[in-house]
Amino acid sequence: MKISFLLNGETRELEVTDPTQSVLDWLRAEGLTGTKEGCNEGDCGACTVMVSDATGTRALNACILMLPHLDGCALRTVEGVSGPDGTLHPVQKAMVEHHGSQCGFCTPGFVMSMATAHCNHRTDHDDLLAGNLCRCTGYAPIIRAAVAAEAAPVPTWMTDAPPSKTPAEVQEGPGFLPDSADALASWYLAHPQATLIAGATDVALWVTKQLRELPEVAFLRHCTDIAQITETETGAEIGAMVSIAALRQWAEGPHPALASLLRRFASEQVRGAATIGGNIANGSPIGDGPPALIAMGATLRLRRGDARREMPLEDFFLDYRKQDRQPGEFVEAVILPKSAPDLACYKLSKRFDQDISAVCGCFNITRKGSIIESARVAFGGMAATPKRASAFEAALIGQPFTEATIATALPKLAEDFKPLSDMRASAAYRLEAAQAMALRYLREAEGELTSVLEVSA
Ligand SMILES: Cc1cc2nc3c(=O)[nH]c(=O)nc-3n(C[C@H](O)[C@H](O)[C@H](O)COP(=O)(O)OP(=O)(O)OC[C@H]3O[C@@H](n4cnc5c(N)ncnc54)[C@H](O)[C@@H]3O)c2cc1C
Ligand code: FES
Ligand code: FES
Repeated sequence: MKISFLLNGETRELEVTDPTQSVLDWLRAEGLTGTKEGCNEGDCGACTVMVSDATGTRALNACILMLPHLDGCALRTVEGVSGPDGTLHPVQKAMVEHHGSQCGFCTPGFVMSMATAHCNHRTDHDDLLAGNLCRCTGYAPIIRAAVAAEAAPVPTWMTDAPPSKTPAEVQEGPGFLPDSADALASWYLAHPQATLIAGATDVALWVTKQLRELPEVAFLRHCTDIAQITETETGAEIGAMVSIAALRQWAEGPHPALASLLRRFASEQVRGAATIGGNIANGSPIGDGPPALIAMGATLRLRRGDARREMPLEDFFLDYRKQDRQPGEFVEAVILPKSAPDLACYKLSKRFDQDISAVCGCFNITRKGSIIESARVAFGGMAATPKRASAFEAALIGQPFTEATIATALPKLAEDFKPLSDMRASAAYRLEAAQAMALRYLREAEGELTSVLEVSA
């Protein structure tokens, strides 16, 4: 597979023989050792690099980015963040002035996250830097540095125009880089055993942590036709390749509860790479997207060759890591209703930021007057799959929306779910937390503030 990209402003063309090689490994083998390896699983941000393409500029974790992801992009590493004459980037200068570095191991990653935010004129630093861990400086000086650099103009050397790709350059080899969903559909029919790679935020860990070899892979990066959000009369069609970051940004308008859940999804770096199609297809019982989308009443569209079929999203998840997907079939889109004003989503994890859910509860209970007319309630972390709370829902419908009704229905959650005990939470804790979420939903509907971002001592 031949790829081309800009590396710190200079064109690079590579014949990729190992398509699952991480960008981090490749950079370090090239002598660009400023990009650090901490966790090698997307958690610490030490390997953060800046990647630009036609859709914008993102901070991504190089340890879980594979070389084919760079095709047609401009990559900037910490070696390319100061000017050609050595002039410090405004965020570097501010880090020095505000004492933002001690041992310095995390510093290149922080600088790249901050430089990317600076490029995008973003100032939500707590959120943007949640995926960068520092174990010695403490975050206050780093945040002060980010704030101090806000007003400085973006240096001219930071604005690379990514190289344009023509379909002719996209070719078959040890890995496949289709340029459309049509090309993917026909190739995947002929290679149903292949692994599809979207953002690789799950797949890369199979390689870096489980040391798995993936003999045949297709990178969906150029399938831009399934990376769109299309609003229709009745709702919105979200292409499988829409990133979590893009979904979150769009959802802030029509689906604020979904947007605020996605703010808790991993970190800025992971949200920029991860896709909603990968989150669904992965079939994890603790993925955050599916419970919210199920509670909204989403429909999943699958494609195999030219044949397409649709199903309620909850029907896709058959058993632990077993989905209703045929060989050669892929997720094309998820279709959302126009609005879901009664939706609320609660993610419970050990840390507020950058953590996988112990329990994720999503409630969409609609009322006519004071009577519950319909209820869609779905949980992650409570079963082998993301799953609706059918018995709990049935106990609510037709009843007044009161604490007494919720209290009567709560035991039904124990009929719906037999959660596991694991390192994230015990079974008893999970069940109790799920019940508490139902009460929280009622309290919020009554106007009480319940978010940790709103409540203070
Ligand atoms: C540090 C870290 C934190 C994380 N935190 C969270 C979190 O808070 N919440 C959460 O839900 N997840 C989290 N994840 C998991 C991961 O980011 C998500 O599951 C993500 O949405 C996967 O999307 P992707 O595009 O990266 O998928 P990939 O890794 O590319 O693929 C995942 C799976 O889906 C398949 N696939 C991808 N696209 C398609 C398609 N269109 N059709 C069929 N199959 C497809 C792949 O073959 C693979 O089996 C985290 C991951 C990391 C590394
Ligand atoms: S090395 Fe930790 S996120 Fe990449
Ligand atoms: S300065 Fe040492 S880890 Fe951040």
